[in-house]
Amino acid sequence: MPAPFAEILSSRLCETLARTDFAADLPEGFSPKIAQTQNRQFGDYQTNAAMILAKALQRNPRELAAQIADTFAGDEVFEKPEIAGPGFVNFRVTTAALTRRLTELIDDEDRIGVSPTPTPQTIVVDFSAPNVAKPMHIGHIRGTIIGDCLTRVAAFLGHRVISDNHIGDWGTQFGMILWGWKNVLDPSALEADPIEELLRVYREVNARIAEDETLRDTCKAELVGLQGGDPENLAIWERCIDVSKIGLQKIYDRLDIRFDHWYGESFYNDRLAPLVENLLAEGIAEESEGAICVFFRDDEKLADKPALIRKSDGGFLYATTDLATVDFRIEELGAEAIWYVVGAPQQLHFDQIFAVSAKRGQEVDLQFIPFGSILGKDRKMLRTRSGETVQLADVLAEAVDRAMRIVEEKNPELPSGEKAAIAEVIGIGAVKYAELSQFRMTDYIFDWDNMLSLKGNTAPYLINAYVRTRAIFRKLGSDFEAGGTVRLTDEAEKALLLKLAQFAEIVPTLLDDFRPNALAAYLYEVATTYHQFWEACPVLKAEGEIRQTRLALCELTGRVLRHGLGLLGIRTTEKM
Ligand code: ARG
Repeated sequence: MPAPFAEILSSRLCETLARTDFAADLPEGFSPKIAQTQNRQFGDYQTNAAMILAKALQRNPRELAAQIADTFAGDEVFEKPEIAGPGFVNFRVTTAALTRRLTELIDDEDRIGVSPTPTPQTIVVDFSAPNVAKPMHIGHIRGTIIGDCLTRVAAFLGHRVISDNHIGDWGTQFGMILWGWKNVLDPSALEADPIEELLRVYREVNARIAEDETLRDTCKAELVGLQGGDPENLAIWERCIDVSKIGLQKIYDRLDIRFDHWYGESFYNDRLAPLVENLLAEGIAEESEGAICVFFRDDEKLADKPALIRKSDGGFLYATTDLATVDFRIEELGAEAIWYVVGAPQQLHFDQIFAVSAKRGQEVDLQFIPFGSILGKDRKMLRTRSGETVQLADVLAEAVDRAMRIVEEKNPELPSGEKAAIAEVIGIGAVKYAELSQFRMTDYIFDWDNMLSLKGNTAPYLINAYVRTRAIFRKLGSDFEAGGTVRLTDEAEKALLLKLAQFAEIVPTLLDDFRPNALAAYLYEVATTYHQFWEACPVLKAEGEIRQTRLALCELTGRVLRHGLGLLGIRTTEKM
């Protein structure tokens, strides 16, 4: 598979610069920037290199642009470029190169032009990580969906990816849960819906503590019992973890998300004491007022923010566990990189973890991938009408219910099983897409009507575009058959092909700043470009090579949409 057009252009430009009369004066390490144009009137790609160089060399930008343009005469991938405005050079891919690319992309069914990274790494992705026996709320949805998407993209690019759900299974909440289990648990409710009952117990104990502060100490005593290995408390704790995992797994199944591991916080318990001893012995940690801390005195940002790793009562902390986790992932999982997809409020925590790791000289690429909040329509934290945190499971159920209404409207005569399956794909897809089409740091407003709209930048719109590509082949009565001659004749065909070829340009950039939203924006453009093609170019009414070309474009559009949505963790359906 030849390189994407932007890449070809990049290397051509570097070659041609070496043949200009200013080759000897090029600034060291200069590499020309190339942008895809928004409007094909200005060609397909554009560079401002002449303007940048003109400034550096004190020459006329249009004159440099003309020299660059001249070197492209007779090029078979790019037409002779045009010079625009103060010195932009605009490039257009030749019809011959576009036509060839159509066949190449059709033949590259699995990768659609995307080459694997030349530098694959073993990457552990830490995401979702809800706290057991506490609600997995809508806030967890962001990390879960973004983390899953990044996992898929990294794997597609050829990295060895290990997903690890670092669940909070050893927090202080277990003091309350243990007391609640012994005093207010309803065993039959636990049987029926364990997550719900554990949550009720948690809330009930919280409410009681609000009325009677002494209960807090009673709960603390239960926690100390657990930490000390009390068999009864340990047994209850284990049951809590088991039932919670089953409940969580149901949500992940519905979301089509899987983890390679669930090494929760408790997994590291035995490693904490030796780790702290090690850090003391290495002189990285030190005692301070009875506690053990790591100071970062020569780090401007963290100078007055030491990391506490053992309290004066001997207890360990969230940070201690995370340090042990880094060791385990490097030593046992072979991690070369670890990505933490966790809410922005934990920035300081991860700054500290990363700083300790640096002090220890660990060779691992640690990345904190934060995200903002989900807001209600009132721009405040999203809550239910009664003021409680919104449960993820409820959101998914409601999304599917609402999607069902769309399917009922569009396709009432489908068998009900099929309708339900389609609603599941659309509802879950809508929730995921609403998340992934935003930049992760943006606080976004959760709005059912927007996310389920059939118009605009939504999952239902994109899935519908895919469905339309499939409908053609149903009408045709057979699947696409590659092999016939193709010839691009219409501008709308060329614009579509160019867009489809850019899948190979977009996907490798998604991990640069961890931006799934760039893929979402691209897929939306694919769908709108397809729509324009559809309006302009009859497919089944065309004949011969024109028809074959248009069928190939429909097929390729379908593949890009399906594969692209797949990287976002969104499934497609054949009908809607
Ligand atoms: N359980 C934590 C929470 O819900 C998130 C854990 C993130 N991962 C980590 N290695 N600390 O806030």
